Amino acid sequence: MGISTEWPLIAALVLLILSIFVYPKRLSKAYKLPPSPPKLPILGNLHQLLGKPRHEALWQLSKQYGPLMQLHIGSKHFLIISSPEMAKQVLKTQDHIFCSRPKSRAAQRLTYNYLDIAFSPYSGHWKEMRKLMVSEFLGPKRAKLSNHVLVTEMESIINSLSPNTEVNLSNIFSEMLEHILCKVAFGNNYRGEPQMGPSLKVMLSETSELINGGVGDIFPVLGFFVDHLSGWNRRLNDLFKNLDVYIDKIVDDHLKDNVEEISEEDKDFVHTLLEMSSKENASGYRPNLADVKALVMNIIHAGIDTNATALTWAMSEIIRNPRVMRKLQNEIRNCTGRIQKVEEMNTTKMTYLKMVVKETLRLHPPAPLLVPHESLSHTQIDGYDILPNTPVIINAWGIARDPSNWGENAAEFYPDRFENVGGDFGADGFEMLPFGGGRRSCPAKKTAPLNVEFVIANLLYWFDWEPASGTKCEDLNMEDFGTIVLGKKVPLCLVPTKHKWKN
Ligand code: HEM
Ligand SMILES: *[C@@H]1O[C@H](CO)[C@@H](O)[C@H](O)[C@H]1NC(C)=O
Ligand SMILES: *[C@@H]1O[C@H](CO)[C@@H](O)[C@H](O)[C@H]1NC(C)=O
Ligand SMILES: *[C@@H]1O[C@H](CO)[C@@H](O)[C@H](O)[C@H]1NC(C)=O
Ligand SMILES: *[C@@H]1O[C@H](CO)[C@@H](O)[C@H](O)[C@H]1NC(C)=O
Ligand SMILES: *[C@@H]1O[C@H](CO)[C@@H](O)[C@H](O)[C@H]1NC(C)=O
Repeated sequence: MGISTEWPLIAALVLLILSIFVYPKRLSKAYKLPPSPPKLPILGNLHQLLGKPRHEALWQLSKQYGPLMQLHIGSKHFLIISSPEMAKQVLKTQDHIFCSRPKSRAAQRLTYNYLDIAFSPYSGHWKEMRKLMVSEFLGPKRAKLSNHVLVTEMESIINSLSPNTEVNLSNIFSEMLEHILCKVAFGNNYRGEPQMGPSLKVMLSETSELINGGVGDIFPVLGFFVDHLSGWNRRLNDLFKNLDVYIDKIVDDHLKDNVEEISEEDKDFVHTLLEMSSKENASGYRPNLADVKALVMNIIHAGIDTNATALTWAMSEIIRNPRVMRKLQNEIRNCTGRIQKVEEMNTTKMTYLKMVVKETLRLHPPAPLLVPHESLSHTQIDGYDILPNTPVIINAWGIARDPSNWGENAAEFYPDRFENVGGDFGADGFEMLPFGGGRRSCPAKKTAPLNVEFVIANLLYWFDWEPASGTKCEDLNMEDFGTIVLGKKVPLCLVPTKHKWKN
């Protein structure tokens, strides 16, 4: 929502300058705006977000000011949503009004001026691109290929684990996902690494920092100046250039291939996109080269971090709860019987596994505040006025841990709570929303959990696991870290032992 890390100092500077030259704008008294904590001139409620992770600070404020709360920061008026009822208003009842995205300079730059899906305002272009991604990247055609890649990658991990030797699972997961994603999207020649410039990992972490926004996004004019002085603008430029070179190289290499001669199985996502861009389809639509690059950018960013985060949290919670691990291993081994190969693993009937993954996404939604939505026009919720272009932040993290939604044991990792609900993500439930909802919901919401299930099933089938030497299961460090994607702060290091079957 647009606050950079250096900002306490910067904010003080802005305050000083602004208070000399500018007077804060007043909102018309004619509107009945949602409750808001008391605010300072110009800075607004910024100081109330200090010193705590953002989702926690917002959650605490909402306890005082309600599930529909407005926060004023600089020139922006954020709407903060903190209950299932209010989330339903935004993501379902009034989805047609709240289906846009706020603009920011980082998003604009990194998406080639909003040609992508995730950050693009609501538009005809967004619709076309989203359809394209769903049919070409997440659809059944590509699913077959990505399954094959997943199996191969899983096999090589299982074979590489040496019994009784500590492994860094956080690292294994993110490398695995990088490999899978790059293979599926860009084909054989990209195992994730750019041939020059910083590594993909470095670029990804720089992106997640900068996408938070600069000071200029909330304090126009003077903020731009601050971003210039603090080096934020330069970092954004450098990042964009490096990413662009990487993506350009991928696209160029694909352009050299003669797509007509490549068999359907060997075609990757970029081949398909380029093929589409070379000829109009029957309805006269075709993506251009910049669209292709923006989509590639989205896939890199949306697919790797969230995915690896979910896997790491799932495995951490399982290890920390030996009862769950035993029950789960029983189910997996019992359902599977004796198999020889990873490809024989079939998780379809593993109901407890599905509950474990669901419970993981409840307690640890990889995107705790989703991706901000924005209202297209004036509307009302619960009798309060919501002005056009209001950025909306939905506290999925808080909602999914709220005892008033989940009962006394809300904070506990207890997959069995889904026993009667089943493992499927309800379409109507807003008590947990790890994939958001409505038109802007995650297009991978059906496939992503299946992949997590497959990886966990294999890890627990072939091996038994213990925390690295000296740590007790229940003492496993579970601190989190991050703003847009909430990962595990301390990498997950575990010791596998080969499973010994009785008889
Ligand atoms: C466990 C894994 C994942 C989680 C938890 C997750 C979560 C989310 C969330 C919370 C949103 C925002 C929803 C909203 O604004 O209401 C989102 C959007 C999106 N996700 Fe995912 N995601 C995951 C995996 C993926 C994967 C594998 C892809 C595919 C490459 C993907 C592509 C996207 C895209 C393109 C959007 C933007 C949709 C739009 O604005 O129309 N995600 N995701
Ligand atoms: C584990 O892997 C992560 C992610 O690559 C890395 O940041 C961390 O330093 C590694 N930690 C250990 C103890 O190997
Ligand atoms: C043309 O491509 C767009 C984007 O994928 C798609 O929405 C549309 O349905 C296609 N039209 C036809 C007739 O195939
Ligand atoms: C194992 O599976 C069989 C059926 O395949 C079932 O009857 C039995 O109850 C299961 N045992 C456990 C411990 O889950
Ligand atoms: C997995 O098992 C289900 C039934 O239990 C079956 O319908 C499905 O085809 C199997 N999937 C694979 C990939 O074998
Ligand atoms: C998400 O991760 C799974 C493995 O856990 C992988 O099979 C899948 O392709 C990933 N999705 C994307 C789009 O990267």
